[in-house]
Amino acid sequence: MAFGKATVRDADVDGKRVLVRVDFNVPLDGDVVTDDTRIRAALPTIEYLTGEGARVILCSHLGRPKGQVVPELSLAPAAGRLAKLTGKPVAIAADVGGEDSRQKAEALEPGDVLLLENTRYEAGETDNDPELARKLADLADLYVNDAFGTAHRAHASTAGVASDLPAFAGLLLEQEVENLTSVAADPTRPLVVVLGGSKVSDKVGVIDRFLEIADQILIGGAMCFPFFRAQGHSIGGSLCHDEDIPLALEALGKAEAGNCQLVLPTDLALGREFSSDTETKELDGVEVPDGWMGLDIGPKSAADYAARVSSAGTVLWNGPMGAFELDPFAAGTRTVAEAVAAAAGFTVVGGGDSVAALVQFGLTENVDWVSTGGGASLELLEGKTLPGVAALNDN
Ligand code: 3PG
Repeated sequence: MAFGKATVRDADVDGKRVLVRVDFNVPLDGDVVTDDTRIRAALPTIEYLTGEGARVILCSHLGRPKGQVVPELSLAPAAGRLAKLTGKPVAIAADVGGEDSRQKAEALEPGDVLLLENTRYEAGETDNDPELARKLADLADLYVNDAFGTAHRAHASTAGVASDLPAFAGLLLEQEVENLTSVAADPTRPLVVVLGGSKVSDKVGVIDRFLEIADQILIGGAMCFPFFRAQGHSIGGSLCHDEDIPLALEALGKAEAGNCQLVLPTDLALGREFSSDTETKELDGVEVPDGWMGLDIGPKSAADYAARVSSAGTVLWNGPMGAFELDPFAAGTRTVAEAVAAAAGFTVVGGGDSVAALVQFGLTENVDWVSTGGGASLELLEGKTLPGVAALNDN
């Protein structure tokens, strides 16, 4: 499916000041970036622009400082990591479109890179305040949005600023949208969707849409317990949000009436409590006794899901199969992750937790597309228009 938006490749950037919205919302331990995936994902756009002679002004949010300057949420560590990755200095401005930003943006030479401070230090960011958007726009000649992870937010730096400058998509944003939309638009069949995580309500939009499109939806993670409750099973002490039960019941009804197979686990790994040193047992079935909680899909289900993934033409995986962060309950997620990595079909993984699982198992390189978006990828998969994409110039 054609992307439909103008990209950096369509812009004449030589010598121009280009404001680039990136998503450097990365995990920090003090002032150390503990996962630089999102910074590395922005490199193609940044290096393309510097290579073309642009003066690059980057901006991003980090965390949710709610309009206050929170020093622990400074982007300085991200600037340091970017400088290491590019082997070039990255200047950092102390504000977001204020005096320091203006002076430093003015001083940029072609090929230089400046990073503004955390956009959410300004309350106007999340309010999509036109005044903040204007201040940002005044720094530059062109705007590029490469922040796919934040494209579902209509904020000043992701949407507002696009009405004040010629606005182009970055290379990451373009690839994310193309890959994630291709799963629904033109999948090689069978299309197998693997959904996990803890809440049905987080994924109900994706379930509803893919019940219409996919050949199979495989459910794992604590999300299966509302389904089991809806079917009248006992779930012991397993995690289950009551408001999810009617959603699960509805999805089961739609699957019954439609052509998509909704597959639930047939065995489970149980623990006494949510801990890696808890007593464990395998349950061949899904009737969870009192005093136990389901913390992973069982080996039979994991093997079944892996086989379905292996024979798929297209695989979309979002959400872990169990509490993979606890060693005794990582097997289901690992088996599915390995199957996704080995699958011959086109494979797309989205959502923070399933990506973290791929990283933990060292499998990211073997997947066709690993999304940098959590909420943004879900909204796109639900078929929603993302404000950060909609705001860009049409091609
Ligand atoms: C994310 O990590 O999902 C994005 O950076 C968006 O962050 P937010 O949920 O705080 O808007």
